[in-house]
Amino acid sequence: MAEDLKIVTGSKEEQYHSLLPQISALLEGEHDKIANMANVCAALKGQFNFFWVGFYMVKDDELVLGPFQGPVACTRIKKGKGVCGASWAQEQTLIIPDVEVFPGHIACSAASKSEIVIPIIRNEKVIGVLDVDSAELNSFDETDAAYLAQIMGLIEFNS
Ligand code: SME
Repeated sequence: MAEDLKIVTGSKEEQYHSLLPQISALLEGEHDKIANMANVCAALKGQFNFFWVGFYMVKDDELVLGPFQGPVACTRIKKGKGVCGASWAQEQTLIIPDVEVFPGHIACSAASKSEIVIPIIRNEKVIGVLDVDSAELNSFDETDAAYLAQIMGLIEFNS
């Protein structure tokens, strides 16, 4: 496994295209989910310099903060609350171009301007979410949604 990330410039598509096989190689042969979640956060932050990227995992009917990269964040989110809790409740990816107009958005940092949350679904249940925040408005679209979902598919969460 190569421990350094090759950072590329170019379109969002080109960046994900370069990143995807590198993440796949990073995870290969490693079954520990915390280790893999941590490296996925670092790889996404390294390539895209997102403001915040991290996991919240369902525990005792709440989302609890998991591995992340970025500033400190709120540790627990209830179902239906904020963008993360809404993504969990709706079992859908949510793309929020401007967090200030999302009712109930949980502002862990005032610097976060737009956000995407991908639910992680295993055996038809949401077991957690990937949350990515940007310091700019309108950062996320269907390209992010598709690639981030693909990246979530690479992580074994039952280990
Ligand atoms: N903004 C999220 C909370 C998590 S932080 O952004 C890291 C939300 O509304 O669910």
